[in-house]
Formats: sequence, structure tokens, C-alpha cells
Amino acid sequence: MARRPRVVRTVSALRRTVARFRAAHEPIALVPTMGALHAGHLALVRAAQRRADSVIVSIFVNPTQFAPHEDLKTYPQTFAADIAVLAALKTDLIWAPSVETMYPAGFATRIVPEGPATAGLEDAFRPHFFAGVATVVAKLLIQCEPDVAVFGEKDYQQLKVVARLVRDLDLPVKIISVPTVRENDGLAMASRNAYLSESERAVAPVLHRVLADCAGKIAQGALVARVLDEGGAAIERAGFTLDYLEARHAETLKPIETADDGPIRLLVAARIGKTRLIDNVGV
Ligand code: PAF
Repeated sequence: MARRPRVVRTVSALRRTVARFRAAHEPIALVPTMGALHAGHLALVRAAQRRADSVIVSIFVNPTQFAPHEDLKTYPQTFAADIAVLAALKTDLIWAPSVETMYPAGFATRIVPEGPATAGLEDAFRPHFFAGVATVVAKLLIQCEPDVAVFGEKDYQQLKVVARLVRDLDLPVKIISVPTVRENDGLAMASRNAYLSESERAVAPVLHRVLADCAGKIAQGALVARVLDEGGAAIERAGFTLDYLEARHAETLKPIETADDGPIRLLVAARIGKTRLIDNVGV
């Protein structure tokens, strides 16, 4: 059986371990997660291992990125299984602080990002989200002092927000992005896929199919606005409520009108039953 990785739960224990990695001159990588690990997370850990000798995986369900009506209380928690897969991958350290450790009594500081965080995508539907993400990611980076930190392209706007945060605050870390890992039918892997009923799960791959179809048509010169209208209608016909289907500049996330304004990223968010899914592809 694989050796259980060391799990630390206090900032002082984390600092001692990070200091040991640093004393051994080992490059450190951080993979921030909220647990409920799936193959997408494991791809992040493998990417981290290719770039650093010591890999820290943080597992922390961050309450500040959930609005009161969202799924904080029911967010999937599979800590024992997470530790087992991280042990099999030979992860060096797991940083698993409690909410009280991350946000002690009197905690009163928030990072409120702009730029990509106010692009009118996730932020339009989850206005609290990116301040929660930016604050916790900044804390994780300061706590773990990694040389690289690894994020998935699945949360594309988050990736751009974190990249901007690191540049703006001069944090000495390189942000690495990893392509989305998909099920065989194209559905992007996500912890929240666990909420889907059998019939919703059968419909869910429509999101990726529509994205891929739209990307193909735009690449062949079709009118962006018309392609998106038709794509959105196809998503709603399949039973989703569409939050957005947008073509944005892949770096700035600014709206684009023609393929010449690119590089283009297509981003979608839609709800089916109680589950909200997001996905994106490049054109
Ligand atoms: O993508 C996630 O799992 C979370 O938003 C993150 C980056 C771990 C911050 O809580």
C-alpha cells in the first residue's frame, strides 16, 4: 500500500515543512483544490510533479467563495478517498486547514479583483465568487511559498484572475495551466458532476458538443453572433437553462465580434436541475 502523505493542519506545521523543502533546495509546486478529487485534479498533480520535487496539494472548501444560497453545505467531501489517491500519486504534503485556521476570529481582509474578474461571465452570476477565490489563493500562495502553482483550464476565468493577481501583487510564483480533463463523452470533469441525476448526466455532454461545434464553425469563418445564438438555442433545447455562451478574447476575456479579434475562447455556463456546469474551449 502507498505511504500516507503527511497531512498538516496548522500554519506553523506547514511553515516548518516548507522550510525543510526550501533547505533542501527543492522546487515546490502547489495544487490548490477543494477536495472531492477526480481525474482532472490528478492531472494537475502530475503536471506539478513534472515541474517540482516537492508537491503540496491543498484541500480546503473555501466558504468565502460561496454565496449564502449556494452549495457550501452539500459540496462533496471525500477526504479519506482524496488522501488515498494522493498517496498513490506519492504527493509530498497535504495542506488541510480548518475554516478557523484559514479565517481566524477577527479576519477582516479581502482581495477584490478587477480586470478578468469583472468580465461579465461567472462574476455576473456569482458576484461574490472571485473575491473569495482571490483572497484564499493569495493566502495559499503566501502560506505554501511555491515556485509554481497549477490550475485547470476548466475554470478559465478563475485561471485568468489568478494569473492577474500574481502579476499585480508581485507574488514570486509561476502559474501553470493544465487542459481540461474530460469523460469519454466530452463532459468536463468537475466535483459538482456528482450532483447530476442519471438523466441529467446523459444530457450534460451537450455543453461540450455545442462548444466544439461552435468553435468549428467560427474557425471556418461563420458569423460569431449567429453561431452563439444557434449554440445557445441548442443548449436550451437539450433542457438546460443558459446563463451565458460567449466568445471572448482568450487572454483579456474582452468580448470579440469577429474571429479576427481573437485568439478566441468560447465559454459557457448552464444549469440543469440543481446543478450548474461551466466549460470552455479554444477556437
Ligand atoms: O478551483 C478550485 O477548486 C477553487 O476555486 C480554488 C482555486 C481551490 C480556491 O478555493
